[in-house]
Amino acid sequence: MKTYLVTGGAGFIGSNFIIYMLKKYSDINIINLDKLTYAGNLENLKEVEDNKNYKFIQGDICDSKLLDEIFVKYDIDYVVNFAAESHVDRSIEDPEIFVKTNVLGTLNLLNISKKHWETKDGFKEGKKFLQVSTDEVYGSLGKTGYFTETTPLDPHSPYSASKASADLMVKAYFDTYKMPVNITRCSNNYGPYQFPEKLIPLMINNCLNKKPLPVYGDGLNIRDWLYVKDHCRAIDMVISKGRIGEVYNIGGHNERTNIHIVKTIIEFVNKNVEASVNEELIKFVEDRKGHDRRYGIDPKKIKEELGWEPETKFEDGIVMTIKWYLNNKQWMDKVTSGEYKNYYEKMYEGRC
Ligand SMILES: NC(=O)c1ccc[n+]([C@@H]2O[C@H](COP(=O)([O-])OP(=O)(O)OC[C@H]3O[C@@H](n4cnc5c(N)ncnc54)[C@H](O)[C@@H]3O)[C@@H](O)[C@H]2O)c1
Repeated sequence: MKTYLVTGGAGFIGSNFIIYMLKKYSDINIINLDKLTYAGNLENLKEVEDNKNYKFIQGDICDSKLLDEIFVKYDIDYVVNFAAESHVDRSIEDPEIFVKTNVLGTLNLLNISKKHWETKDGFKEGKKFLQVSTDEVYGSLGKTGYFTETTPLDPHSPYSASKASADLMVKAYFDTYKMPVNITRCSNNYGPYQFPEKLIPLMINNCLNKKPLPVYGDGLNIRDWLYVKDHCRAIDMVISKGRIGEVYNIGGHNERTNIHIVKTIIEFVNKNVEASVNEELIKFVEDRKGHDRRYGIDPKKIKEELGWEPETKFEDGIVMTIKWYLNNKQWMDKVTSGEYKNYYEKMYEGRC
């Protein structure tokens, strides 16, 4: 019976991962360690909270003493590190917390894992540290080409610089100590439970409330969209089959411009929910500082080595996602009350 320490498991991808894993396997234990920042929400985990194989612990990945206690008490086999400050715009406003959590927090997790897994001849069998990273560490693409695992790191935002730094520490622990690690670098995720500071839930929420839809710059920045469940399946495969020390890019040729995403959401809401919602709500606003133009992942390695491919086409995934938000209005109302209001006003007041 394997025991997973999932950090940041109350956030968007982490909670989807925990639900996915507990539905798929009955013979695993999951410890979810999450600080519950503005982005963490235990409501996401309602359907698994009573599962006897699941335990939630509120805490910080920077807290060595707590991590030590968790490793002693639960004999951790796998660490899956989702915990992070994850929003580029917030990193532009306040980079420091990004270094604390994303870099120092990851280093702390590496140290405690190493302490408990290392033997005099190497590392105990069957252990792995998986760092969940991002394609943003590769920087920005022109009109052609894709990111492969050997594309040089060239992060531009404080967020992507902090993720790249963490990746390099994880790589260093493999290169130096031969610690069993993998790094996954995925493209932009979307799906249930995503905090509405990110493009897709922000636009869905504003459409449903008939509020202006703030689009950065000319709206032609391109992201490579990945349905969150496909991402969770990929992480599961990398944990079980990924070659130690390797990086795997996760994405599936689902490139769309931001304005295409916004228009797709408007069209769905217009036809199915509220006929008065139309493209007049779109408001082009001042571009994000240093805004990367295009991300696009080459998923050849994970496809050839592990047999992973995305199963969800963007056209289907976006409809499932909009329907999820329609069916979970209470969730959205709850997360958009309080701190979110202040954040939204700070980011968009005077721009819309
Ligand atoms: N969302 C995406 O599209 C995307 C794309 C590529 C990579 N990623 C990476 O995937 C991971 C998860 O992203 P997400 O979108 O779910 O993020 P999120 O912001 O929704 O969730 C992050 C979670 O981490 C927790 N957390 C923050 N600081 C912590 C700390 N110091 N200790 C413990 N917990 C802490 C938060 O409470 C929250 O639950 C991140 O590492 C992110 O960099 C995300």
